[in-house]
Amino acid sequence: MHRTHTCGELTIGNLGQEVILSGWVQKSRDLGGTTFIDMRDRYGITQLVVNTDDADDLRTKVKDLGREFVIKVKGTVLERSNKNPKIATGDIEIKVSDLEILNVAKLPPFMIEDETDGGDELRMRYRYLDLRRNPVRNNLILRHKMAQEIRKYLDAEGFLEVETPVLIKSTPEGARDFVVPSRMNPGEFYALPQSPQTFKQLLMVSGFDRYFQIVKCFRDEDLRADRQPEFTQIDCEMAFIEQEDILNMFEGLTRHMFKNVKGLEFEDFPRMDYADAMRLYGSDKPDIRFGMQFVELKNSTLPVDEAPLLWRGGGEAVFPVFDNAEFVVGINAKGAAHYTRKQLDELTDFIKRPQIGATGLIYMRHNEDGTLKSSVDKFYDEEQLKKWSAAFATEPGDLVLVLAGAKDRARKQLNELRLEMGNRLGLRDKNKFAPLWVIDFPLLEWDEETERYHAMHHPFTSPKPEDIALLDTHPGDVRANAYDLVINGTEIGGGSIRIHDRKLQSIMFKHLGFTPEEAQKQFGFLLEAFEYGAPPHGGIAFGFDRLVSILAGLDTIRDVIAFPKNNSGRDVMIDSPSTIDDKQKKELYIETTV
Ligand code: AMO
Repeated sequence: MHRTHTCGELTIGNLGQEVILSGWVQKSRDLGGTTFIDMRDRYGITQLVVNTDDADDLRTKVKDLGREFVIKVKGTVLERSNKNPKIATGDIEIKVSDLEILNVAKLPPFMIEDETDGGDELRMRYRYLDLRRNPVRNNLILRHKMAQEIRKYLDAEGFLEVETPVLIKSTPEGARDFVVPSRMNPGEFYALPQSPQTFKQLLMVSGFDRYFQIVKCFRDEDLRADRQPEFTQIDCEMAFIEQEDILNMFEGLTRHMFKNVKGLEFEDFPRMDYADAMRLYGSDKPDIRFGMQFVELKNSTLPVDEAPLLWRGGGEAVFPVFDNAEFVVGINAKGAAHYTRKQLDELTDFIKRPQIGATGLIYMRHNEDGTLKSSVDKFYDEEQLKKWSAAFATEPGDLVLVLAGAKDRARKQLNELRLEMGNRLGLRDKNKFAPLWVIDFPLLEWDEETERYHAMHHPFTSPKPEDIALLDTHPGDVRANAYDLVINGTEIGGGSIRIHDRKLQSIMFKHLGFTPEEAQKQFGFLLEAFEYGAPPHGGIAFGFDRLVSILAGLDTIRDVIAFPKNNSGRDVMIDSPSTIDDKQKKELYIETTV
């Protein structure tokens, strides 16, 4: 027998019992004859003790022990004289009578401790060792619990879990496909799904009514902290529903998860339309854990009588930077008036970085003594600054930060600055969760590079019926029945009500620049299915990795994936991707490079 108990379960209630435990040596300390060994398994740590009066044979084995040796011990549960309230087994220790070394271990390349000395790459190279560490393992335990809760909720709501294929053809989610050559079909390729989008719609045509799948998706795109080339979606679809039904159902799922995994309850999730999100936060995924909403001083894209005039002094043009800009916008960083010149320079450098690309930062301090002081005092008098103060609702101690430029760029840049200020002012507490539905996304988005419209969500998304007439005249103004769930500034999920009418789907493809032949070639199967009784339907997909990382309070989804890829898309442990030999290439009809 390998064990009677785990390393995490013995307490005072077990005193005097003879037990067998198996696990890894976390560390061993020889205190002049008495040796204490911390023995670890998935469940916890138990202290073992071996004394000078123990048998020589046992003491020799203990001396030979190294970190991460796998051992099995037999012994008696004793009360510790020196208790450790930090661990569940901290009241007891095991007086060892017998010890067997089940396997030796090389010295690990980094410390298997909560706080390790191993750098990222090293820990990725030895991921199986990293996974022995509590914080990493706990993330996967959380992930497991969440997956169970998701299944529980969706099953109770009548969703059926259906697996869809992985070797398919291109799904238009906006990224590049990973492709797989087909040996049996020379010169032809499968694509891995960027999502099961078309299949879940076909399941609705089949009458499955409510579908879900916790499913791997693959996207060949540039990687970031919240993006992996393969990631997991909680993918869902429902028939005979409207947008409101979807929002309620999946708000329910999110609540269920927070309640059962974190013990947290929420009021109804707020909703914000896309246009407001952009206007007030410069982002379609605003972090609403804190306010700091945008205030426009100038907006030349508005009709003259609606445009704010706060960029002018007394109605006259005065400051060339503002005079010449399309858009001037700012935020009130509450309580930051004490920022020193150096800190303000840091902020200026921050927004001037090439990734953000602003040209400069203008500020106004509302000093504790009530006076207003700006970096553009040369151009604006106290009277004008008072107007700014009113517009930003400043109080003594506040700092107003202002950017000028083209509208979309200035908004994007100020969004970055707002998030940075949120970080600096400690307003982005990881233990606070602020969910938000962003709704009424535009249907189409203009792409400068290809000079045509793209589907903002995907080509199967339904326009709002009242906006369909605009498709021919003002395609950019057409709103979609599309929605995102945002938590703490991260896009956790997105979905839409779908087009279920072949004619409308064909019109959409036309607007997206597909010829009828191209549409037929790529999506003929779906268009055809729509001719066989497609019910009205819609759905959503959550990014499961992102959801877990938010609940775990982590900055990157890598930490909630057992075997993730690094930022170059490599698995450095198994060394993949890798080359294949010429024989394999030949079989796959891939050109060899001889
Ligand atoms: P979308 O493309 O918005 O929608 O994806 C849904 C969610 O998946 C997550 N996600 C990712 N997570 C990690 N790494 C990635 N590379 C990555 N890409 C996306 C995000 C995102 O919100 N078929 C539609 C859904 C639908 O319409 O029902 C879709 O895939 O959290």
